[in-house]
Amino acid sequence: MEKQRTATLSFSDGTPGVELPIIPGTLGPDVIDIRNLAKTGLFTYDPGFLSTASCSSGITYIDGDSGQLYYRGYPIEQLAEKSSYLEVCYLLLHGELPTQDEQDKFENEIKRRTMVHDQLMSFYKGFRRDAHPMAVMVGVVGALSAFYHDSLDISNPAHREVSALRLIAKVPTIAAMCYKYNIGHPFMYPNNALGYVENFLHMMFATPCEQYAANPKLVKALERIFILHADHEQNASTSTVRLAGSSGANPFACTSAGIAALWGPAHGGANEAVLKMLDEIGDISQIPKFISRAKDKKDSFRLMGFGHRVYKNVDPRAKVMRETCYEVLDELGLQNDRLFEMAMELERVALQDDYFVERKLYPNVDFYSGIVLRALNVPLNMFTVIFAIARTIGWISQWNEMISDSDRKIGRPRQLYRGPERRDYKARSER
Ligand code: SDX
Repeated sequence: MEKQRTATLSFSDGTPGVELPIIPGTLGPDVIDIRNLAKTGLFTYDPGFLSTASCSSGITYIDGDSGQLYYRGYPIEQLAEKSSYLEVCYLLLHGELPTQDEQDKFENEIKRRTMVHDQLMSFYKGFRRDAHPMAVMVGVVGALSAFYHDSLDISNPAHREVSALRLIAKVPTIAAMCYKYNIGHPFMYPNNALGYVENFLHMMFATPCEQYAANPKLVKALERIFILHADHEQNASTSTVRLAGSSGANPFACTSAGIAALWGPAHGGANEAVLKMLDEIGDISQIPKFISRAKDKKDSFRLMGFGHRVYKNVDPRAKVMRETCYEVLDELGLQNDRLFEMAMELERVALQDDYFVERKLYPNVDFYSGIVLRALNVPLNMFTVIFAIARTIGWISQWNEMISDSDRKIGRPRQLYRGPERRDYKARSER
């Protein structure tokens, strides 16, 4: 039996050291288990968790150096090409690819939950018509917890399962309603004769007055976007869902917290920010100027869609997204799309520049996804909503994994205190 590796922490001032066990992963970096560190009265300090594993998980693996992404061990490229979004949902939630029988049952369980409670519709009326759809998503998804008191016992696996099914089924309906409310159109009910992605496009773009048939190639492109965005280990929004869930909060409230975290431009809001950036650059001739701005520490401008905390190589999802751009723009006869040409030139110039090469800043999933969504007539303010639909399965799978873990503890990080020492209150006349 191989002796367990340990790390020895010793102190320069003679304070007694401590042995810390090293735990190997199935893949990727081993971790130093610092739970014994509390005995020394010292904490670790790692703002942004650059070197900290917050949990143990068996759902998604990222190799940032080689640009690999696996969902339950399956490479993202294979799933994007061969699987469907609902099959990926089954895989992420249950850990294995489903048999035909299991998939049929799962899809039926989803289909019969696509409608929302009729009273949920009145929540939208409280928002201004021009509210950002992500603000509405945070509110309405959180409000689901007011409707499902029959399934909020998180210690009950059956309640966790039905909550997962409800979220997978209803988030697209709620999202399409956000869009319809924003543009002043009537809500469209789900049509369960359609597939999951086609049904979402139907709820987005159909009207009571006209038939709507989605282009199958565009449905496939959006299905691929959903698959690519489904999960991504412990990113900011997933970590938010886990932290909220660690207190025992219900899955609908936790998902709403995840949507709020995803909204930030450094995270899921980047796809919307990329399009705004390309519009601001305006023309290929302006690219050198903006590359210089991105490198200038005094300038807050960053190349949106570039860089990643984990990927120090091209995000494998960005490669699939770029191919999808070609397919969608070709299908729509937009081969010379100005923004796509600008994005490819921006990527070419940045990847030749030492600043980006030295810092291993490569295009991430958001760099090209916005161009595809724009070609699908998805409005800019709905880009991050699309990301939220896709990521709901990742959030709820990671939440379920955490809640099922018998070692679960409430997340409660410590701090490095740098404030004032103890002092006594002074009357206002003495200040
Ligand atoms: C997503 O975590 C996930 O898995 C997220 C995600 C998922 O699926 O859940 O993959 C989805 O959020 C993708 C990322 C989308 N965000 C963007 O595209 C926004 C632009 N990117 C950056 O803000 C940044 O790269 C982050 C936020 C993505 C990562 O930031 P880090 O890891 O904290 O890195 P950092 O800010 O410390 O940057 C390191 C260096 C710095 O320069 P120096 O101080 O070393 O000189 O690189 C520079 C940064 O200034 N840098 C950039 C840059 N990103 C980093 N400079 C210019 N443009 C950029 N985009």
